[in-house]
Amino acid sequence: MKTILAIETSCDETAISLIQTHESEENFSVISDLVISQIDIHAEYGGVFPALAKREHTKNLPLLFEQICKDARKKNIEGKEQKITQEKKEQILEILSREPELAEKIISFFNENNIPNIDIVMVTHGPGLAPALWVGVNFARTLSIALDAKIMPLNHMEGHISSILLKENYIKDEKALYNINNFEFPLISLLISGGHTQIILVKNWGEYEILGETTDDAVGEAFDKVARLLGMSYPGGPKISKAARLGEPDNDVSLPRPMLHSKDYRFSFSGLKTAARYLIEDLKEKNLLDEQKINNIAREFEYAVTEVLLKKTKAALLEHEARGLIIAGGVSANTFITENFKNLCGGLDITLYLPEKNLCGDNSMMIASAGFVRLVKNIEQAQKNTAEISAIGNLKL
Ligand code: KG4
Ligand code: ZN
Repeated sequence: MKTILAIETSCDETAISLIQTHESEENFSVISDLVISQIDIHAEYGGVFPALAKREHTKNLPLLFEQICKDARKKNIEGKEQKITQEKKEQILEILSREPELAEKIISFFNENNIPNIDIVMVTHGPGLAPALWVGVNFARTLSIALDAKIMPLNHMEGHISSILLKENYIKDEKALYNINNFEFPLISLLISGGHTQIILVKNWGEYEILGETTDDAVGEAFDKVARLLGMSYPGGPKISKAARLGEPDNDVSLPRPMLHSKDYRFSFSGLKTAARYLIEDLKEKNLLDEQKINNIAREFEYAVTEVLLKKTKAALLEHEARGLIIAGGVSANTFITENFKNLCGGLDITLYLPEKNLCGDNSMMIASAGFVRLVKNIEQAQKNTAEISAIGNLKL
C-alpha cells in the first residue's frame, strides 16, 4: 500500500489530491480531491494571464496541502511529526528562492503539524504555462524533500487520457478506477482543450503516437475567442454551447469547415475564428446582430467544429482499426460534440470513453491516475532525486 499525493498547476486550476493504492488489485481509493479554480480572476483579462496564474498557485498550494493533511487525519491515515532539519531547510529555501514566503509556510507547517506519511509526490511538469508549471514542480520538489518521498513528473496530456479511468463515484468507491486491464488497444484519443487539439494513437498504456494536431489555435481557444467576439465572458466554451442550443439554421450565417478535406489529421481553427469575426462585424454593420443571430452563430460554430473533429477522428479510428475512442480535455464537456461522437462510435460499434463531467477540465485525479498506471504497469518508477525535475512548457507525449 502506498500513499500518493498528486499536484496539477499547468494552467488556471490549482489541484491536489491524495490517494492510497491497493497494488494487488491494481486500484486505489481517494482520500481527498481538491481544486481551486482561478476562472473568475482571469475572466477580466479575457484569458489566462500567466503571471497571475503563478501568483494564485503560489497562494493556493499551501492552503490545499493543509486541507489534504486535515482530510487525511479525518480518515485515520497514518502520520507523524516531520520536523524540518537544517539541511532540508536549506534545500527548500534554495528550490523556492523566488518564492521565499511559500518556503517559510511549508517549513513552519511541517514543524507545527502532524503530516501524513506520503510515499510518492506526482506532479504535472508539462505541457502548460511555464510559470504556472514551475510553481507546482518546485512545490512538489520541496514536499518530496520534506517528506522523504519519491517524486514522479507527469505529462498533462497523458493525464487527460487517463481521466477516463475514474469511475463516476470515485470519491466514495474503494476502487476509484475502472479495471485497467479491461481496455482493448489500440485506442484513438481525441484531446480537445484550451491549449491542445490532438488525435493520438494509444497503442497501450504509456505508448502514444501523435497522429495530428492543430497548426494554430486549439478548439477551446477558438470557442473562447469566438465567444468574446459575441460578447460572452471567459471561458467562452460553456456559453457558446448554451447559446447554440437556442440557435436555428440561418442562411445569413455560415462558417467554413477548415481542413475538412486535407486528408491528414491536422487541424486549423484560426481561420474559423477570423471568418466568425468578419461575419459578426458584417451583421453588426447591418444592424442584424440580435440575440437570435448570436445563438445562430454559436450553433453554426459548434456545427463547423464538430464536423471537422468527427471526420478526422473517424478516419483515424478506421485507419488504425481502433477498439475504442477516448475524448478528453476541457472541451469534452460539450454535450453537442459528445452526442455526435456517441452516434459515430455506435455506428462503428466501438466503445466511447468520456471523463466524468467534473474531470473534463484540469484536475489532479487525472495526474494520480496517469502516474498510478505507469507504476503498476512498470512503465516508469518514481525517483529519489528531485533536482532533475523541471517544468517543460512544450512537453510532448
Ligand atoms: O482542459 P482545460 O480545462 O484546460 C486546458 O488544459 O486548456 O480546457 C479549457 C477549455 C476552455 O477553452 C473552455 O472554453 C473549454 O475548455 N470548454 C468548453 C466547454 N467547457 C469548457 N468548450 C466547449 N464547450 C464546453 N461545454
Ligand atoms: Zn488540460
